[in-house]
Amino acid sequence: MPKIMDVSHIPVLCDKVVNFLEPHPEGVYIDGTVGLGGHSVALLKASAPNGKIIGIDLDTDALTVTKDRLQVFGERCSLINGNFAEMNTLLETHAVHAVDGILLDLGVSSLQLDAPHRGFSFNHTGPLDMRMTPEHKNDTAAETMLTAMQVVNDSTVEGLVDIFKRYGEERFAKRIAHRIAAVRQHEPITTTTQLAEIVAQTVPKRRSKIHPATRVFQALRIYINAELENLMAGLDVALALLKPNGRLCVITFHSLEDRIVKHRFQTWARMCICPPKTPICICEHRPSVEILTKRPVLPDVAEVQHNPRARSAKLRVVCKL
Ligand SMILES: C[S@@+](CC[C@H](N)C(=O)[O-])C[C@H]1O[C@@H](n2cnc3c(N)ncnc32)[C@H](O)[C@@H]1O
Repeated sequence: MPKIMDVSHIPVLCDKVVNFLEPHPEGVYIDGTVGLGGHSVALLKASAPNGKIIGIDLDTDALTVTKDRLQVFGERCSLINGNFAEMNTLLETHAVHAVDGILLDLGVSSLQLDAPHRGFSFNHTGPLDMRMTPEHKNDTAAETMLTAMQVVNDSTVEGLVDIFKRYGEERFAKRIAHRIAAVRQHEPITTTTQLAEIVAQTVPKRRSKIHPATRVFQALRIYINAELENLMAGLDVALALLKPNGRLCVITFHSLEDRIVKHRFQTWARMCICPPKTPICICEHRPSVEILTKRPVLPDVAEVQHNPRARSAKLRVVCKL
């Protein structure tokens, strides 16, 4: 576990998030992906002197670092280890039933990406792990999750093709899955760089600047951590927790996530959700939000220069009616 001095994560679109959430001193806010606390610090400052933040994260390593970082804010900030898809139940223990704003900043933090032993990155050699819940002694949550090593070595070829296509939109899914199956007949695939090399040798040389294994790594990470399922559940739970006029900000980093957020927001904002061509409305659906970002908000050139990890970020925001 890196020392606190070793880790940093620059919060993406931070000023924009603060502007949309309009934090005020009587407010209670949820940072559903608190990570290393970058957005939370900004929200705590903007809601001084009394605004409260409840930070949630699956990653106990991140929470250990963040607890130190946020201790200057005292009781204004509480941290919970858990899944934002269950934030309603997690908040019951804090006797909080409605909040003024919620942020979901999806994906992985620099702490996770830069730690070779977590196995998220093809830039560092490490065990193929990729669980957002890191393994600690007696940690049953992590024990019950598959690691990337298990998925890569134990899945059928069809299973791998499905994961690479569905969660990575990888054009060469079949070819890569067959190559993995051939390699693992001789030796297990155990490290990040071993897998990255196999993918790089299998796909045609692409002109794109991104590493050829980017989509395969993204697919495995999303699958292992059930990221899309958590997002869908988390959005509904978040809407239910917001007070009228409360805001939900979601930052996504790839098209699969953004599509889910965009469609869910559109459904919430719509007057009628009857199937097309239904002659008269029978759904009795009423809009529950106003969409505040007709188009997603993107980082500007200066932000991307300062923080290249922000380059694919998209922020969408709704206000509960
Ligand atoms: C991009 S980072 C957040 C960084 C944070 N906003 C900051 O400024 O430091 C995403 C974080 O979300 C966490 N995470 C991902 N899925 C989660 C889930 N379903 N429930 C709770 N935390 C989750 C990850 O462990 C990671 O720490």
